[in-house]
Amino acid sequence: MIREHPTTAYTDQKPGTSGLRKKVRVFQQANYAENFVQSVFDVVEGKEGATLVIGGDGRFLNREVIQVAIRMAAAAGFGRVVVGQGGILSTPAASNLIRIRGALGGLVLSASHNPGGPDEDFGIKYNIANGGPAPEKVTEAIHARTRTIEVWREVEGSDIDLDALGETRVGDMTVEVVDPVADYAALMEQLFDFAAIRAAGLTMAFDAMSAVTGPYATEILEKRLGFAPGTVRNGTPLPDFGGHHPDPNLVHARELYDLMMGPDAPDFGAASDGDGDRNLIIGRSRFVTPSDSLAMLAANAHLAPGYSQGLKGIARSMPTSAAADRVAAALGIACYETPTGWKFFGNLLDAGMATICGEESAGTGSDHVREKDGLWAVLLWLNILAATGKSVDQIARDHWATFGRNYYARHDYEGVESERADALMSELRGRLGALPGERFGDLVVEAADDFAYEDPTDGSISRNQGVRVLFEGGSRVVFRLSGTGTSGATLRVYLERFDAARTDEDTTAMLADIVAAADAIAGIVRHTGRTQPDVVT
Ligand code: G1P
Ligand code: ZN
Repeated sequence: MIREHPTTAYTDQKPGTSGLRKKVRVFQQANYAENFVQSVFDVVEGKEGATLVIGGDGRFLNREVIQVAIRMAAAAGFGRVVVGQGGILSTPAASNLIRIRGALGGLVLSASHNPGGPDEDFGIKYNIANGGPAPEKVTEAIHARTRTIEVWREVEGSDIDLDALGETRVGDMTVEVVDPVADYAALMEQLFDFAAIRAAGLTMAFDAMSAVTGPYATEILEKRLGFAPGTVRNGTPLPDFGGHHPDPNLVHARELYDLMMGPDAPDFGAASDGDGDRNLIIGRSRFVTPSDSLAMLAANAHLAPGYSQGLKGIARSMPTSAAADRVAAALGIACYETPTGWKFFGNLLDAGMATICGEESAGTGSDHVREKDGLWAVLLWLNILAATGKSVDQIARDHWATFGRNYYARHDYEGVESERADALMSELRGRLGALPGERFGDLVVEAADDFAYEDPTDGSISRNQGVRVLFEGGSRVVFRLSGTGTSGATLRVYLERFDAARTDEDTTAMLADIVAAADAIAGIVRHTGRTQPDVVT
């Protein structure tokens, strides 16, 4: 029996950079999650008898939303739901499952690296059949539907046992509870030389940040690759991530950073985020920026079995440094510059135009799935360390000696009043035409624009993707507002300076002039009232 529930639609369900992300309290409003899930189901076609993958990062509300989503999927006509045991699926594992099961799509429940718990964040993202985030035309249709929807539907029935592997029926639909790790671990064994990594005898520390990668990392690193027990830290997913931000950056993964900079550092340190798609890479006494990591992985990927044929192309988001462009040029392959957010990479990967892609926000991945993949990046690094016998620091130094160095940092101003942030951006956009030729200290503006992207696979155009100010000589500052925040606005300022010869300088010192120019150009202090960024990564 299908039960219909009237819903009063919501006007605030516009999916952002990666799905709908709100405070848990917002999601707890009557019909709120159901309103969004039903809107997804109303918009996607071909549901009859199709397979849907469901899973999340285990955060607060994960199980509740999964239970109702299963009953709603049955009412919507799906033939099968594949759900991770305990409601657990990392974002890359969900992407893989969608692909190998030939699913119509998947619901991934996560707010990524944002904190979890009753007062923190929750999110729902819809991924399409290629395993990647729904493209803008789909998310726009979902958003439109959330505003006009009048009923949501579920089959009558009680909650299923999410912890028992195997199949059950919900209405006419089969629900299959699967091991969330098995298929993903098998994919990693195909791509990387596990025997070589095992034989290299490396030591490492992996911080799962009490989030979803714990079970994946324990199985792959400790069980299959033979790293010592205890290599995986904070390996049990907790609904509130132990009260921490599961964001693998130098602020929130401070303990790992301190370990790697100290006398007892293992060979390799890494961390992943709430839903397992981001990565942090630190060698002994050597932090690798995500932009550099993308470039170094691209330059060395051929050393791993899955990439021994070479790369078809590289893609990076616009704010990501141009380090990868130099590798692409040397390899004689294309480098694509896309707007922020993983969904823009999917078309390039599907079209076979790119093999590896990445973002400055600690996301790296390849055509093995259609999401960024934290553990994948860790394993590719391990494979490269094993194949070369070099340390992370040596790899970085050799890379910079060959390609030059793109000094890079991102300054985030969080919780800025939305009106103030909007005023900053619109004033900046209004000044773009006047900037070329202007001088800020030693820096002279060469060009300034609001980034627009034309997708080479389908010709679709995305505008207003962030303001770029390019200086003579290859330095740059980029300004954009976050599309993933849940309170106020976050201003992101991306700073970059290229130097072909001086590759062993202090990043902060190298970027000081650009930081000053960024404030002079955008009036950051004047508009936000902040004299310092909240987070520097
Ligand atoms: C942030 C990152 C972006 C990433 C997204 C989802 O988005 O900057 O690179 O794709 O999270 O993980 P933003 O908050 O900047 O819109
Ligand atoms: Zn994430």
